[in-house]
Amino acid sequence: MTRSFQTAVLGAGLMGHGIALTLARAGHRVALTDPVADALASVHQRIAASLSLMGEGDARIAQILKQIDLFDTVPAAVTGADFVFEAAPEKLELKQALFAEAEAHAPEAAILASNTSVMPITQIMAKLKRRERALGTHWWNPPHMIPLVEVIRTEWTSPEAMDAVTDLLAGAGKTPVRVEKDVPGFIGNRLQHALWREAISLVERGICDAEAVDTVVKSCFGRRLSVLGPLENADLVGTELTLDIHRTVLADLEDRKGPSPYLEGLVAEGKLGMKSGEGFRKWTPEEAQTVRNRVTTHLKKLDTILED
Ligand SMILES: NC(=O)c1ccc[n+]([C@@H]2O[C@H](COP(=O)([O-])OP(=O)(O)OC[C@H]3O[C@@H](n4cnc5c(N)ncnc54)[C@H](O)[C@@H]3O)[C@@H](O)[C@H]2O)c1
Repeated sequence: MTRSFQTAVLGAGLMGHGIALTLARAGHRVALTDPVADALASVHQRIAASLSLMGEGDARIAQILKQIDLFDTVPAAVTGADFVFEAAPEKLELKQALFAEAEAHAPEAAILASNTSVMPITQIMAKLKRRERALGTHWWNPPHMIPLVEVIRTEWTSPEAMDAVTDLLAGAGKTPVRVEKDVPGFIGNRLQHALWREAISLVERGICDAEAVDTVVKSCFGRRLSVLGPLENADLVGTELTLDIHRTVLADLEDRKGPSPYLEGLVAEGKLGMKSGEGFRKWTPEEAQTVRNRVTTHLKKLDTILED
């Protein structure tokens, strides 16, 4: 049986509730903290709802919730922690202050991990006294359903800290992938936003509309992406074919360094996506909810299919 650890999760929002759920479901104790009283008061209920969506029954949900203790302060949550996962808002100074506080109150050997989306882990951890035990763990939303966690090394992170967190995550059923250099966007977001940059450009250049972009991805290479990575695919079709394609197509792909003016225009006009009823496409509240439900159902089904 795998060892049970004491873990702390800082932030009980979207990501924090899923990280806490995953660790508790794997048998670890979780100390969860959030300065917003409502976030803390509702988190057991939100975790129960997510577990129920994942197919867990009432008895198992109650058992998992017993593993999660709630605390008002960071010092109280990190005392005795083997691992500290930060999932607080994406603000550099806030994260730096949180880790300074965590370092002051957690055991000397505790591993400190940030879930920042794109901020350099190096900047977040620069002012710590023992930077060798600090690293990034980039979970994906929903953290309890997407297997990947990118484990990001800074120039100071020790191999032991990388191994310990990778083992913990693998033991909790996640798929940890090591990122050996602390680059913006790590691996997943670099790949994803390379695609989004071209997707936006296709619309901006009038080559197709946003719906066509989404249809092409969903009904074509998106279908095989969860079983065939891009470099596996390049090997499958042959590297010489890949080279020929790149010789023709790369010169015409979008390569601007900053955000697209088309995207900036949408934001300036208040077209913020599903929450405002329009972004690249128009959305009624019902259509937006249908998309959200479709993603959850699909992720749940994929889990069973890919187990085979
Ligand atoms: N939402 C995503 O898809 C996603 C994916 C990967 C990574 N992330 C990153 O994860 C982090 C959390 O994002 P989220 O989507 O869960 O945000 P969220 O707003 O849902 O949750 C953040 C929580 O942190 C709490 N908080 C505020 N100040 C705090 C403090 N000082 N200490 C502890 N908690 C504090 C807030 O009350 C809130 O409950 C961010 O860095 C974000 O960039 C988000």
